[in-house]
Amino acid sequence: MRASGLISASIITLGAQRALQSVKARPTLDARTLARFVDPLPVPVIARAAGFHPSPVDPNIKLPIYRVEMREFDIRLHRDLKPTRQWGYAASVPGPTFETRSGEPLMVDWVNSLPGKHFLPIDHTLHGAERGNPEVRAVVHLHGGKTPPQSDGYPESWIVPGQSTLSYYPNHQDPAMLWYHDHAMGINRLNIFAGLVGAFIIRDEIEASLNLPKGKYEIPLIVYDRMFDRESQLYYPVSANPASPWIPEFFGDAILVNGKVFPYLEVEPCKYRFRILNGANSRFFHLSLANCQSFYQIGTDTGLLPSPLELRNLMLAPAERADLIVDFAGHAGENIALKSDTFDVMQFRVARGKTTDNSSLPVKLRPFQKIGESESMKTRMLALIEQNDLAGNPIMMLLNGTRWSMPVTEKAVLNTVEIWNLINITDDAHPIHLHLVRFQILDRRRFDLFAYRSARILRYTGPAIPPEPSESGWKDTVRANPGMVTRIIMRFEGYTGRYVWHCHMLEHEDNEMMRPYEVVASIREASNDAVAAPAQEWCVNGQLKTLGER
Ligand code: C2O
Ligand code: CU
Ligand code: CU
Repeated sequence: MRASGLISASIITLGAQRALQSVKARPTLDARTLARFVDPLPVPVIARAAGFHPSPVDPNIKLPIYRVEMREFDIRLHRDLKPTRQWGYAASVPGPTFETRSGEPLMVDWVNSLPGKHFLPIDHTLHGAERGNPEVRAVVHLHGGKTPPQSDGYPESWIVPGQSTLSYYPNHQDPAMLWYHDHAMGINRLNIFAGLVGAFIIRDEIEASLNLPKGKYEIPLIVYDRMFDRESQLYYPVSANPASPWIPEFFGDAILVNGKVFPYLEVEPCKYRFRILNGANSRFFHLSLANCQSFYQIGTDTGLLPSPLELRNLMLAPAERADLIVDFAGHAGENIALKSDTFDVMQFRVARGKTTDNSSLPVKLRPFQKIGESESMKTRMLALIEQNDLAGNPIMMLLNGTRWSMPVTEKAVLNTVEIWNLINITDDAHPIHLHLVRFQILDRRRFDLFAYRSARILRYTGPAIPPEPSESGWKDTVRANPGMVTRIIMRFEGYTGRYVWHCHMLEHEDNEMMRPYEVVASIREASNDAVAAPAQEWCVNGQLKTLGER
């Protein structure tokens, strides 16, 4: 149980234990033996446009175009490791950071220049990864982006080495740190594990007028865990079944920030803005500073909070982001570790002396309007399900009992509001993500699992618990806690077309915990959306309701 202590939330320990049981013994490097804080934190370079390209919506308008090649390369991830093979955008992990402004579109030519063979264990029994499909496939998704469907990175729109795709990102949305990552069907967890991630920052005038820390005082922190073998190579564990090496979750003992293991950052005694992303496959991070100092959260996944929130610790599930202000004033000369529970993540080394801090932390950041529940046109009941084998090992994760390849069951009408009830009957917390839209969390509520399992009766057994302050803003990923119904509300704005929603634990997503959904132009087109839905009648607290009724 070497890695168990690293698991931050008790809610995920069950899954972790199972993952460890299924790990086949193979010599791995014990990351506890790696020296802490010996490598400086790298900051990804800012992506630079290669030229201009006619806009797909108006050829008279020329948009900046970027060209990003996915490449294999070797780099030292820690002073005492040998160079590690990785796959990265522009041969770096994380890839270059995109910087743009709200409403300023850009285009990216994504080029797959990866080798023809994968270096991580593909499970050919998973949908999309069947033998006969090319081993190396890649498709880029801009997570949190309000992107037209053709450019959203549909999991089946992958390209093979030697091919490229041109994507168009309108960026017509509020400022936030989005991220781009691979989304190839059935091997997503391996491609991201190999290094295909990067940050994408959208800004605007209003945010600039807030005078938040900027320039060298604003740094993205992309945090994830990995495991290494004795040769310093990335090690992705396999199950005991050679025909199906998939494991239900990955938890590693080495924590990397911006691609280095346990790095340090030299800071001045003043305010910094850290834009943190949990880029892990499955691990939840529960972050705090070792000196117990507080910090301020100013933004969630997809936007600024109405006002700063003082925190001493912060939970981030895979794919969740937090925009933080940390003030090192008064800590000159201190070394402060960033921890996830008792485990080291990185270290801040605060310089001695004094710095004049010209940045501010305003009391008001950005107005935030709650979407009223009365605006909702449709309520969906969506169960999160885990299928186990006879020994109790998970073999598949499902959304509403449907597999990826089944007909679309969620069709939302453009510009309408819906409420989704995520009914989690599994033992794990699942970070659920929707493409295209941003949402708000309404509440979470315990329910009677037995009544649900045996008779599909949804009986609440506790009060509705409002979201935590740190998630009371715009979100694109929500923790659906075990044994609870998590309700989210969103307006389907932007584009019609096909998108996906899924669990962002990448092992789950790769094994059926992902579904297509559609945004359609009219009610008529949406009306056949219950055809394949397994449950159309529900009993909520003794009242029989049909699917779609509030
Ligand atoms: Cu981070 Cu389907 O995405
Ligand atoms: Cu996404
Ligand atoms: Cu999951």
